[in-house]
Amino acid sequence: MRVMERTFRGQLFLLVLCLSVLKGNSRYIENNDISRDELFSLFTSQLKRETPEELIYRRPLRCLDMIAVEGQFTFTTANPQLSCAAFFMAEPSEVISVDLDNVDIDCSGGDFITVFDGWVVKGEKFPSSHDHPLPVNERYVNYCDTGAPRRSVPSSQNVAMVFFRIHNAGSSFTLTVKKHINPFPCNAISQSPEGSYTMVIPQQHRNCSFSIIYPVEIDISEFSLGHSNHNNNDDNFPKRSLPGCTETEDFVQLLGGRGLDTSKLLTITDFCTSFTGATHMKVGCDNTVVRIVSSGRFVSRVTFNYRLLDSQELQTIKLNNVEDFCFNN
Ligand SMILES: *[C@@H]1O[C@H](CO)[C@@H](O)[C@H](O)[C@H]1NC(C)=O
Repeated sequence: MRVMERTFRGQLFLLVLCLSVLKGNSRYIENNDISRDELFSLFTSQLKRETPEELIYRRPLRCLDMIAVEGQFTFTTANPQLSCAAFFMAEPSEVISVDLDNVDIDCSGGDFITVFDGWVVKGEKFPSSHDHPLPVNERYVNYCDTGAPRRSVPSSQNVAMVFFRIHNAGSSFTLTVKKHINPFPCNAISQSPEGSYTMVIPQQHRNCSFSIIYPVEIDISEFSLGHSNHNNNDDNFPKRSLPGCTETEDFVQLLGGRGLDTSKLLTITDFCTSFTGATHMKVGCDNTVVRIVSSGRFVSRVTFNYRLLDSQELQTIKLNNVEDFCFNN
């Protein structure tokens, strides 16, 4: 029972974070009074995945929404809605495109619809600015700035979001959400608390993060940083260090913490040398991230699987591990 509670609290925490996007920090977002019940129903509807039955799935868009399917989502309102946000999510190997159609809003009166390439939660962005290929200002596309009647905005990873503000009753717009295969996925948020994944960076100078927004046991089964480790062949277990692999430009990190921005998470461990063994770790954090930092000189790869920690495991971690930062609020 306690486990359930804790897990659910983690999920709820994410939604609360999502909502607090609406509370300030971010330049477009303001206060919103979303109740606990609304949050729960939001999460439940996201879990149901809303399997489309027609060719194009259509439903109204809510002021606070979570969408994991392709389709058309139309927003209409009888009241001013000053701080709305819709979160989109696809499989890690997919990207999302968002098209705006039939837009009838009052840009000069302060309305806006802004597509963001990623998620922003409580002022924290995923992917972080260290991991995203575009500068932050280019990740926002405001319909009122571009003025284009119809424009498709592509995401760089499997998550995207739309912020909007509508002052006048009767205003409306339609979002068409599509998913596309991403041949070289880099950053991603896991759709579920268990699974397995292989991250590859093909000789590019960039960083990629895979974020699991649940407390999980993670098992890093294989990784390779391209350069074989001739100097210490006898040592095929990963070299770990805290706080970092400062002497190398290529490494894999396991990070944990509460927020979304990977550059603000704490390093649980770094791996600097290739290995063929396996390593397991239990991370009692609301967000667990596997991240590759790549110089571009090698093909970097890491394979891992993960599963949700049950409440008993979380209790044990909490009791036994004095230095676990995820339980120190
Ligand atoms: C990758 O992340 C590190 C910090 O971990 C940062 O110093 C570096 O500039 C990033 N690389 C790229 C290509 O953005």
